[in-house]
Amino acid sequence: MKSIQRVAIITGITKGIGKAIAESLAARGIYLVGVSRNEKDIAELFDRLCSKHKIDCLAVQTDVSQNELVNTLITRTLERFGRIDILVNNAAVGTFGSIIDSKLDDWQKMIDINLKSVYLCSKAVLPQMMRQKNGSIINISSVCGLRGYSKCGAYCASKFGVNGLSEVLALEAKPSNIRVFAVCPDVVDTTFANNTNASLTNKSNMLRPEDIGDRVGLLIDSGAKSQVCEIRLKPSNFFHRHLRRENKKRKVEKRTIKYL
Ligand SMILES: NC(=O)c1ccc[n+]([C@@H]2O[C@H](COP(=O)([O-])OP(=O)(O)OC[C@H]3O[C@@H](n4cnc5c(N)ncnc54)[C@H](OP(=O)(O)O)[C@@H]3O)[C@@H](O)[C@H]2O)c1
Repeated sequence: MKSIQRVAIITGITKGIGKAIAESLAARGIYLVGVSRNEKDIAELFDRLCSKHKIDCLAVQTDVSQNELVNTLITRTLERFGRIDILVNNAAVGTFGSIIDSKLDDWQKMIDINLKSVYLCSKAVLPQMMRQKNGSIINISSVCGLRGYSKCGAYCASKFGVNGLSEVLALEAKPSNIRVFAVCPDVVDTTFANNTNASLTNKSNMLRPEDIGDRVGLLIDSGAKSQVCEIRLKPSNFFHRHLRRENKKRKVEKRTIKYL
């Protein structure tokens, strides 16, 4: 039996995590549709991936927060490949500061690019995935979608939204054999993180973009019956650091008890 050639759309493919996910899926022989606002950067990435992995790729310059552009993206994908197996909603932006000092335009931009785009792209691929009775939607969220961080108002709100939307999508798409995942990484060493307060994090305590790329690849490879709602990714030395902190706390507590 001829195996089906899988096709993945990855938004925000030109940098950091998106690039690493592209590498991981290309290594699995999956054909790629790459999306960002900068066609030249996608073309450069695809030149390398196509010759290295012998795959077919389509570069689509798109702002994922614009409904009409997203619909054109899906039309062009189907014209070229005739199917969509995987959607990775990865594109996002971040402007950080306290809510009182924030600008409405920045707030709106983050909600549009980080959250509305997940709704638009997912809604647009669902009819095709439902026809195929198969598909995976992977939403790159963040630990900022699991708890609040000071000076991250709109970013946290957008990522909490992504996690909520992922749960609803998972329920609604399950009868069509479509799996939906939300991946929630801690700080990852990319230009995005290095332009924020997260840049103060010691590099050895950051995840690498490849860690997320590998994990997304594993999710795609996992059996059709497995459905993980949310995956939280921490750097491997996190538990060491956590243990050290806990031990230190215990020592302080012991000393305090002694002096009581
Ligand atoms: N880095 C971290 O510490 C971290 C931690 C947890 C979660 N995340 C999440 O991981 C994802 C990727 O982050 P990253 O660190 O790799 O960010 P990044 O290096 O800034 O890359 C963001 C990507 O999104 C694209 N993009 C931005 N706005 C877009 C738009 N309107 N339409 C289409 N593409 C757009 C950018 O390309 P163009 O500028 O060319 O459009 C770029 O390819 C994001 O969802 C982020 O929230 C990151």
